[in-house]
Amino acid sequence: PRITATDRDGSVKEFDAAPGTSLMEALRDGAGLDIAAICGGSCSCATCHIYVAPDWLDRLPEQQPDERELLEFMETYRETSRLSCQIPVTDDLAGLEVTLAPEE
Ligand code: FES
Repeated sequence: PRITATDRDGSVKEFDAAPGTSLMEALRDGAGLDIAAICGGSCSCATCHIYVAPDWLDRLPEQQPDERELLEFMETYRETSRLSCQIPVTDDLAGLEVTLAPEE
């Protein structure tokens, strides 16, 4: 699916994400964005923090408690925050718009 990602410097990238990966992997490996993903996608480092376009919040897989707890602990937390490693890439994501959260 085609995804639009805004980098931390404001530059915008449109790219095709590969289904079967996580959105974190797609942003890092497919779009070449700078996501440290120190924990390797196991929902514990929060370096894959993104903001999703508000109209996408309800269309994404629901947040699990561990994801929410980690996000709410962050200074950069917003209502549109998600951890991209917790979102599997499927064709349903076509048209998704995300913005990389500032590094903490
Ligand atoms: Fe570590 Fe997502 S990659 S929380």
